[in-house]
Amino acid sequence: MANVTVIGGQWGDEGKGKVIDWLANRADVVVRFQGGNNAGHTIVVGDTTYKLSLLPSGVIQGKLSIIGNGVVVDPWSLLDEIERGRGQGLALTPDVLVLAENATLVLPLHRDLDAAREARAGANKIGTTGRGIGPAYEDKVGRRAIRFADLTDREALEGKIERLLAHHDALRLGLGLPQVQPHELLALLLDLAPKITPYVKPAWKVLGDAVKDGKRVLFEGAQATLLDVDHGTYPYVTSSNTVAGQVAAGSGVGPKVGGYVLGIVKAYTTRVGEGPFPTELSDEIGRRLGEKGHEFGTVTGRPRRCGWFDAALVRQSIAVGGVEGVVLTKLDILDGFTTLKVCTGYTLRGEPIDHLPAGLRDQAALEPVYEELEGWSGSTQGARSWKDLPANAVKYVRRIEELIGAPVVLLSTSPQRDDIIMMRDPFQG
Ligand code: GDP
Ligand code: IMO
Ligand code: MG
Repeated sequence: MANVTVIGGQWGDEGKGKVIDWLANRADVVVRFQGGNNAGHTIVVGDTTYKLSLLPSGVIQGKLSIIGNGVVVDPWSLLDEIERGRGQGLALTPDVLVLAENATLVLPLHRDLDAAREARAGANKIGTTGRGIGPAYEDKVGRRAIRFADLTDREALEGKIERLLAHHDALRLGLGLPQVQPHELLALLLDLAPKITPYVKPAWKVLGDAVKDGKRVLFEGAQATLLDVDHGTYPYVTSSNTVAGQVAAGSGVGPKVGGYVLGIVKAYTTRVGEGPFPTELSDEIGRRLGEKGHEFGTVTGRPRRCGWFDAALVRQSIAVGGVEGVVLTKLDILDGFTTLKVCTGYTLRGEPIDHLPAGLRDQAALEPVYEELEGWSGSTQGARSWKDLPANAVKYVRRIEELIGAPVVLLSTSPQRDDIIMMRDPFQG
């Protein structure tokens, strides 16, 4: 039995949460290894809708859920989410939820900086979620971050705050923000400490012991490959590595523990925020995809930009992430289209090109090359078996497999947990 790593294969919101919740039934442990509460996952089980940002999507199935060291955690947001989850009947005790002691805190000053920089950037803004994610990762790499282990050592915390504010004071001065008072930040963190520390543990050890005991682990990626800080459409990306290669560093296990790499891709393409998007549709079809697919950000409520499926982009995502199999989601949203288009590659200033170049100007200048496929008039919504799919829907899936060079192992046909078709069990490798 393999472990499974789930990652987004486009620009996020592919339905990772739904798939992870469904797969969690077959797993013992679910682990987040990067990102923060910029992630937003909607999971629908019967009449109940769960909205998760920091909690691993395994919590709904009551599985041991670990927030690894690679995640940047806004602890107040996490506590709110725990409260909300409890209100929905989830058993979120420290036995079930583990927070890495070496994970970085997202502080109010990170959100201030995120907002101030975006405001100052004007038309050049990234369109972040405003959650302070970028600034928190900057402080982590700058070796001035506050980590969960620091909360229980007042003396060390005072020194850390001093070091952190020496950096932020200068930035805030330049941006016209008021200074942060060290004693106020200290008081805020000392007030937080008893509420959050019950969950704080050496997560690498908890996970390592589970692996040694032969437990099955599901690694839950947030965001997606095209938002990866190295492999995405930089600078219109998030501030973490989102590819499967991040599993090991972000949770404290060896590089082979991640197991089977499962990429989640939507049957069309969406993106929230700014940045290049070669197959974007600013017409009636784009609006129809957005309306039918309820394409509004879970975190910010912003409308998602929509476009045709981009096989060149997904091919690249599969290559850089080592994706072995794909889950195709939201196929039902394509029900009723007479014709569908799939991007097979691009031209750049008249020359064919089969991948997304790294330069922003080149990315913006790409012209998609489309292949047209016949749509279907029947319904795929809620289908749970391959034989329930209209013939043209089957052709669409098969053609996508050919173009991306990877098998579709699961197919999702509605937001509901069990509306899924399994061709191959990812845990079988
Ligand atoms: P994530 O960030 O990748 O977990 O995705 P989000 O939860 O942000 O966005 C995916 C949205 O699509 C959610 O509202 C899901 O409930 C919904 N969804 C997931 N799979 C399907 C599907 O196969 N069909 C339809 N119609 N909706 C789906
Ligand atoms: P899930 O896990 C879609 C996007 C933001 C912005 C860029 C940088 O739900 O798929 P950040 O706040 O991270 O600095 O924003 O990244 N972004 C997402 N887009 N889904 C997400 O997560 C995202 N997380 C960040 O819209 O363009
Ligand atoms: Mg999302």
